[in-house]
Amino acid sequence: MYSEKVMDHFKNPRNMGEIENPSGVGTVGNAKCGDIMRMFLDIDENGVIQEVKFKTFGCGAAVATSSMATELVKGKTIQEALQVTNKAVMEALDGLPPVKVHCSLLAEEAIHAALWDYAEKHGIKIEGLQKPKNDISEEEEEEEY
Ligand code: FES
Repeated sequence: MYSEKVMDHFKNPRNMGEIENPSGVGTVGNAKCGDIMRMFLDIDENGVIQEVKFKTFGCGAAVATSSMATELVKGKTIQEALQVTNKAVMEALDGLPPVKVHCSLLAEEAIHAALWDYAEKHGIKIEGLQKPKNDISEEEEEEEY
């Protein structure tokens, strides 16, 4: 059912963990399955993503897509990171079963939420970035756990 790449990223997730004092952090959740993904970004003064880590409380496909998403945005500029859509993540993983497509959306939204947080903290506007729908505010988050 899963490609070798999905299994590889599920079993050996890359960039798992957190960043202390990140430039931006975003947490998103899927109301249907209840899975949660948090993405931490370290962005330098040139707008390049130097470090990225994730934590996912979710299914195997969510772990694999977050892992691949971190690999895809690392070393990229903010604008390049915005091009990392869930489709791009799925393609990089050699596809996902249709019932698991929403898991890859969570990865895209987590990146966007972290970039949104970065933009808010720095008082800037990132061209083409919309406020993520599934962003979980800190208060709601505490109730979740
Ligand atoms: Fe919820 Fe995969 S089943 S993210």
